[in-house]
Amino acid sequence: MADRYLRLTGTAPGRLLTRGLGLPQPVPLRRWSPQTPGLDGPLLHLTAGESVVTAGLAKALAATGLPVERRAARPAGIVLDATGVTSVTGLAEVHAALHPVVRSLAPGGRIVVIGRRPSSEDHHQAAAQQALEGFVRSLGKETGRGTTVHLVRLPATGTPDAAGSTLRFLLSPRSAYVSGQVIELTDAAPDAEHDPAAPLTGRTALVTGAARGIGASVASVLARDGAHVIVLDVPQAREDLARTADRLGATALALDITAPDAAARMAAAAPDGIDVLVHNAGVTRDRRLVNMPADRWAQVLDVNLDSVLRTTDELLASGALGRGGRVVATASIAGIAGNKGQTNYAASKAGIIGLVRSLGPRAAAEHGVTVNAVAPGFIETSMTAAVPLLIREAGRRMNSLAQGGLPVDVAEAVAWFAQPGSAAVNGQVLRVCGQSLLGA
Ligand SMILES: NC(=O)c1ccc[n+]([C@@H]2O[C@H](COP(=O)([O-])OP(=O)(O)OC[C@H]3O[C@@H](n4cnc5c(N)ncnc54)[C@H](O)[C@@H]3O)[C@@H](O)[C@H]2O)c1
Repeated sequence: MADRYLRLTGTAPGRLLTRGLGLPQPVPLRRWSPQTPGLDGPLLHLTAGESVVTAGLAKALAATGLPVERRAARPAGIVLDATGVTSVTGLAEVHAALHPVVRSLAPGGRIVVIGRRPSSEDHHQAAAQQALEGFVRSLGKETGRGTTVHLVRLPATGTPDAAGSTLRFLLSPRSAYVSGQVIELTDAAPDAEHDPAAPLTGRTALVTGAARGIGASVASVLARDGAHVIVLDVPQAREDLARTADRLGATALALDITAPDAAARMAAAAPDGIDVLVHNAGVTRDRRLVNMPADRWAQVLDVNLDSVLRTTDELLASGALGRGGRVVATASIAGIAGNKGQTNYAASKAGIIGLVRSLGPRAAAEHGVTVNAVAPGFIETSMTAAVPLLIREAGRRMNSLAQGGLPVDVAEAVAWFAQPGSAAVNGQVLRVCGQSLLGA
């Protein structure tokens, strides 16, 4: 669905007019393509407070392939090491480091603050580190021009060694529609050596709901990253599914995920095991609770949540999802903010968040598998094209980037979770919503 307003603000007269009226100023986002694989400029590496991870962070930043500098006239990214900030005085150093340079950041730039998990034993450290969350969320709302801002938290005493894949993702065009996020890392070392250009080579990924929309885009990005993909959708979508499979050289599996034997049939389609399981299939059956019959409630909960719980449990128990495996589920900002007419949908998506947070640490300890979720905001799909015009326009503009996301934005986030290098990313829910004001 074309965003005509975004096109208008892309012209000089359109910009003049909309600025004069005080309207939002979206800019076209620079997304990944073979021609634009990285940010266009150097990374500025700054430090606030006494850091003990300077050398490790410099190494992790060098692995992004971008030139890293301590001074840069026009940086494409700014990384502020705030791991040593443990007091209000330390927070003043955050201001001192960023205040003079934020304005010099190139359009579409990235700001990543590196912090530590707030301590349960030192409330001064906890206050200072939690303060960084409010700081990045506010800065993300101020910077404009397609800039994104994040906080990456290292464990209490961890090094940035496990942060490589996360920094590569955040400091690249792949994260164009992700902003204002807090990502908590563990110490887990990458699962295997891999080629950053094709990190999923030799891996099998199964994507549910992949005949169209976001799922088809996820399948396409995972195939781009080297995976053999199994695309799954309901038998009624067989034709679209076959087309997606042909385009990607993927295997098609026509299956309703609510079927009692769904997990067994998923495992049978991947005799060598499933390395990446993407629960993307989802349905809406909107009605206000007072008008909602039990069958509409049950259908949404069954597809969006219960089948995710059942198939994940069975595939973990049978070993079809084994060491180094990745589960990526799909929540929604409706599951965080709630939405009128969507008590069933929002309950199912909030349930996904509960599942991820609880199962993540246990699945890693018992099976060597990570469990994460994406929470899309307003994504330009046939689902959102059907939304009435005024509500659609509000959905598009009510975020820091003042535009809707594309299916590929969700797909890039899934691909980051899926990488062998992302073992330290576990139990996380990443909003892909341009820093939507809803549920912020
Ligand atoms: N589009 C958005 O803005 C948005 C926002 C937040 C969350 N999401 C979530 O992202 C996911 C994909 O959304 P989309 O917009 O691409 O939706 P979509 O309706 O275009 O695609 C969903 C796919 O899931 C399949 N599916 C439904 N029930 C199934 C079942 N029982 N078994 C197997 N496949 C089944 C459908 O046939 C369809 O191909 C969903 O989980 C949705 O809730 C979307």
